[in-house]
Amino acid sequence: SEEIEWWDYDDAEEMADAVAGDIGFIIEAAIDARGAAVIALSGGKTPIPIYERLAKAKIDWKRVTIVPTDERIVPLGDPLSNVTMIAKTFLPKGARVMPIVPAATADYKAAGRSADALMQDLHWPLDLCLLGVGADGHTASIFPGPDFDEALSGPNERRALGVMPEPLPKEAPVARVTLSRAAIVSARALIIAVTGDAKKKVIEQAIKQGPSSAYPIGRVLADAELPVDIHWAAA
Ligand code: 6PG
Repeated sequence: SEEIEWWDYDDAEEMADAVAGDIGFIIEAAIDARGAAVIALSGGKTPIPIYERLAKAKIDWKRVTIVPTDERIVPLGDPLSNVTMIAKTFLPKGARVMPIVPAATADYKAAGRSADALMQDLHWPLDLCLLGVGADGHTASIFPGPDFDEALSGPNERRALGVMPEPLPKEAPVARVTLSRAAIVSARALIIAVTGDAKKKVIEQAIKQGPSSAYPIGRVLADAELPVDIHWAAA
């Protein structure tokens, strides 16, 4: 993206207010324009306060479809499951939350194919993609390394696929399903929300480095055609 705007906050609560406000606005604009909104929300811990605030917005949630940007391949209900975390907040509001990993399976490629089939039934492009970033520069479940680059770099491949990070990430040492980079960067709005110095540093490094398989977030930023907002809270 030619245009990257940083928004800094003292703490995560303040960031959550701002980001929830922006997402609410994007959802309403999509409903006004097209009658429905399809959004991808990140997993992990950072977005939890954002989702709690967003759920309080006066939105016609029945018109909103939510998919996770990526999912850990674990049974639904597992504490590691991103979609379970998202569903807890948005299902009671009436949103349609799509578990893109239908069942626990040892076969991550098969899980990816079934997630992809579900995704192809949605309308593209996504109205919004909210991303988190790991301290290693991963985003969604696109991890650093040439294998990922190849699997995820098709310019027009808006899809979901199964991946096996190597090494397995400490916070959730399991295979994943993730949106491809093309699916992410084609979204009508791209928002990144992160906390802490390590993540700020890795994003700055990724921008400096330019597109490289060492920094998946850097390639996303480079490929995005629209302006990207990066929200960062110190703690
Ligand atoms: C996941 C995510 C992932 C996440 C980052 C940051 O399933 O792990 O979707 O890409 O956004 O790892 O996670 P935290 O917010 O927990 O640090």
